[in-house]
Amino acid sequence: MMPRDKMQVFAGRASTELAEKVCAKLSIPLGKAEIRPFPDGEIDLKVIDDVRGSDVFIIQSTSAPADSHLMELLIFIDCLKRASVERITAVIPYFGYARQDRKAEGRVPITAKLVANLITTAGADRVLTIDLHAAQIQGFFDIPVDHLFSSPVMIEYIKHLRIPKLIVVAPDVGGVKLARAYAKHLAADLAIVDKRRIGPRQTEAMQIIGDIKGKNILMVDDMISTATTISNAAEIMRSKGAKNIYVCATHAVLTEGSLQKLQKARFNEVVLSDTIYHNPKTLTDQIRILSVSGMLAEAIRRIHYSESVSSLFI
Ligand code: R5P
Repeated sequence: MMPRDKMQVFAGRASTELAEKVCAKLSIPLGKAEIRPFPDGEIDLKVIDDVRGSDVFIIQSTSAPADSHLMELLIFIDCLKRASVERITAVIPYFGYARQDRKAEGRVPITAKLVANLITTAGADRVLTIDLHAAQIQGFFDIPVDHLFSSPVMIEYIKHLRIPKLIVVAPDVGGVKLARAYAKHLAADLAIVDKRRIGPRQTEAMQIIGDIKGKNILMVDDMISTATTISNAAEIMRSKGAKNIYVCATHAVLTEGSLQKLQKARFNEVVLSDTIYHNPKTLTDQIRILSVSGMLAEAIRRIHYSESVSSLFI
């Protein structure tokens, strides 16, 4: 195998800002590529830099519009492969379609698996991603997957808030593992909202397992989409005597109407990451965005130099 002396980082249009920050941390320029639509809307892409023999990282979240961002990632990978790069790592800070990871009922697709197949078939050699909706999605790929967590960045910030009487709450049973990790690192207790899902866009919070009366709450989740899950959970918690409620969620999917819902739920602060880009002007004061660029840059550096990535996990 040829040596991979050269490391280059490119960005799809979903993740340009994040990729620029990553490159600044790696002290390398962002790779040059031209991406623009053909007159009929199909994606036209050309890599400008010489990439032959390089260890290439392409950063692209498959956030909304998920289909065109995914297609752009696939086309980028194909382009790099045909330009004779040595290795391609698809860096997907937010892996979309992740919630369709099993057949919850008959006659439905497992789109997360389909997406994994597409990325592999396009020519990716490795995947680097953050807070998959379900860790098992790693197994949908037959190529190495490095799965990072945003929790070190989030926990550092929460610690500095010095919130007294803190209890970490999982807004649904699926989020218990994540909440437990936060509780451990913040030396806080853990509670769970037992939620029953009644449709893709509607959820119903049922009851709380744990004692939250008089406590300050940190609710943690992998993503905020419609904000229904955490708003419902907040309502129940307030009715059971919760005091201040803070939220930490990695992926700011933030569909239409979600910001209003967050304000209505009167969260003290909603801490999100920049795995999905939002123009700060479109966000409210309630929201704080923390950057995962440092951890991504470090993971990319370690992958390039074949160093352990697992020590980045907590
Ligand atoms: C559910 O399983 C996820 O972890 C999130 O709780 C959910 O996807 C958030 O979606 P929404 O904000 O639309 O309730």
